[in-house]
Amino acid sequence: MALAAEAKRIAAEFDYSTEEVGKGVKEFIREMDEGLEKQGATMSQIPSYVTAVPNGTEKGIYLAVDLGGTNFRVCSIVLHGNQTFSLTQSKVAVPHALMEAKKAHELFEFLAKQIEIFLKTHHNDKFEAHRRRPSQQQYLDLGFTFSFPVNQLGINKGKLIRWTKGFDIEEAIGQDVCALLQKEIDALNLPVIVAALVNDTVGTLMARSYTSPGKTGTLIGAIFGTGTNGAYVEKLNRVKKMAQIDAELGSAAYDKSTGLMIINTEWGSFDNNLSVLPDTPYDRALDAESVNPGIQMFEKRVSGMFLGEILRRAILALYKHQDENIALFKDTSSADNDTSSLTTVAEDSPLYKQWGIDTSFLSIVEEDASDRLRITKQTLEKDLGVSAPSMEDCVAVKTLVHAIGKRAARLAAVALGAVVLSTNKLQEDDLVDIGVDGSLVEYYPGFEDYIREAFREIPEIGVEGEKKIRIGLAKDGSGLGAALIALTASKAEERGEFSQELVDSLQASSETNASRAKALELHIASRVAAELAALERKEDETLRSLRESLSSELSSSSTTPSKDQSNESRLLDLPSIPAPADAAAREDARQAQSSAKVFEELEKLRKGLSERKKVREMPREVERTREDLVGCLRKNDRRPLDCWREVEAFKAAVAKMEEDFIGRVL
Ligand code: GLC
Repeated sequence: MALAAEAKRIAAEFDYSTEEVGKGVKEFIREMDEGLEKQGATMSQIPSYVTAVPNGTEKGIYLAVDLGGTNFRVCSIVLHGNQTFSLTQSKVAVPHALMEAKKAHELFEFLAKQIEIFLKTHHNDKFEAHRRRPSQQQYLDLGFTFSFPVNQLGINKGKLIRWTKGFDIEEAIGQDVCALLQKEIDALNLPVIVAALVNDTVGTLMARSYTSPGKTGTLIGAIFGTGTNGAYVEKLNRVKKMAQIDAELGSAAYDKSTGLMIINTEWGSFDNNLSVLPDTPYDRALDAESVNPGIQMFEKRVSGMFLGEILRRAILALYKHQDENIALFKDTSSADNDTSSLTTVAEDSPLYKQWGIDTSFLSIVEEDASDRLRITKQTLEKDLGVSAPSMEDCVAVKTLVHAIGKRAARLAAVALGAVVLSTNKLQEDDLVDIGVDGSLVEYYPGFEDYIREAFREIPEIGVEGEKKIRIGLAKDGSGLGAALIALTASKAEERGEFSQELVDSLQASSETNASRAKALELHIASRVAAELAALERKEDETLRSLRESLSSELSSSSTTPSKDQSNESRLLDLPSIPAPADAAAREDARQAQSSAKVFEELEKLRKGLSERKKVREMPREVERTREDLVGCLRKNDRRPLDCWREVEAFKAAVAKMEEDFIGRVL
């Protein structure tokens, strides 16, 4: 019993009261605001340059790659536009030598080669077509999920602050990781554009928004896995530091029209000075012996990598207890040792190694409802090299696990609750949607329940507010999410600052050449219909005047209709095309001897319209100028003003095409 009591005493140190949750939320909101105001705050609040969330109707094919640890993943995603998608992927371990390479080129060349292999295997048509005749048409946009601290400078630009997770390539620090990857992709002549740099939380937010049911966009994307972090949709005008960032780092082009900006909070660093975070001797020891003492203090109390380490230290404290009658894994302390063998801890037990306990250990023990905690016993034996632990040992370990896991979930509620409250979404919407991913939230039993319990304890949320918050798993932020960001980026890029309907429809990279031709055809059809309507109006007038002239036996030349083209809304501000109908109508008016003649003429027009040639292919000149324009915009990092020549050439080509076409059919 003494062991159980001692385990409970230690567990109580992890209690995180209602009052503390409330204080945590207030401080969290304060630090969020501070991070929006200025650079270098505790919580970085990094603008992602993603300014809209998807609604599930997006379509197209995109590439995504994910470098965040020991594996490199390449995938292609086909968005079906009905909240579903298909994903093809390959995964390869990053050779250890490359993680510590002398030159950045060595690692990034390896990454580009994996992309090449993937393209050859899964998209050989595009690969070969590009080899035969390089064309902008074959390019695939790629979302780059890079889960290391990066100073983001634009949607596809970000400088590496420092490496973590075992990577150490000095030369890469301070460099734009997108440019490093693009350079190697270009060296291999692959039809791939690095369109977006993505944090996993932003990817999660996008993935959830694409797949989540209903029309409410997702507010938060959060990771509770090895690390923890969250991204959310903020009002652009609240990101006060935007002007400062623009001044310091150079203004990046991004779509401001939504008035939103997705912010990567980097909440792992919330309250680094421990003004409100709970602190135990185990937390302190963990931090002191970590590679970054005093940093990521919230993450060190919440995420998987650290929970295992907190537990390891608490178990060791109990194991090393001076009183043998109290200590863990000692036969003397166990009144109910269910084996006759001695309880021993192997010399090389992971219990003695920093980071020796994985999150999965906590999940398994928390879940265990087996008879006499058989599963916990087996896991202690298998994972931690503890042989023949007693039932009491297992109960004690379970008590510690539960306390550490529950505190983590209640802290997670502080972060999520604070973001919900700071954005005022509970007031504004009927439902607040949160997408989550990570081993802890996916596998730790009851994690969400504890979050919800804490939500209800936050006065500004309460029982009613908690019911309005929907939490859903959003798998694959680094694949689907990155693809969606690449899509947003490429749309913004191609729209540039001169967004117009036709430019949009011609350039929408999510569409195929055939569907662009279709859009073009529809557009021209509507132009022709407008011309016809104008002509009909003129013919009506002509008819009326003909009747008048017939009755008064006056010359029909007095009925010249006025030109009414000027009110027509013209796409692209195209040079006004002289209405062929004008001349024809004048001619008709002069020559028509009877209304029958006018109807005959109209009939001819209708026939011409229905028999008009289908636009199967975009005229070459339009395609060429379009490619030049897109190429220029890409090169100039979406500074459309630098591409005015290309814009003009493109507009001229489109105008000529319309003129030719209308001239042909009317
Ligand atoms: C760490 C990283 C952060 C990432 C998180 C979850 O906190 O700093 O960028 O989102 O881990 O993977």
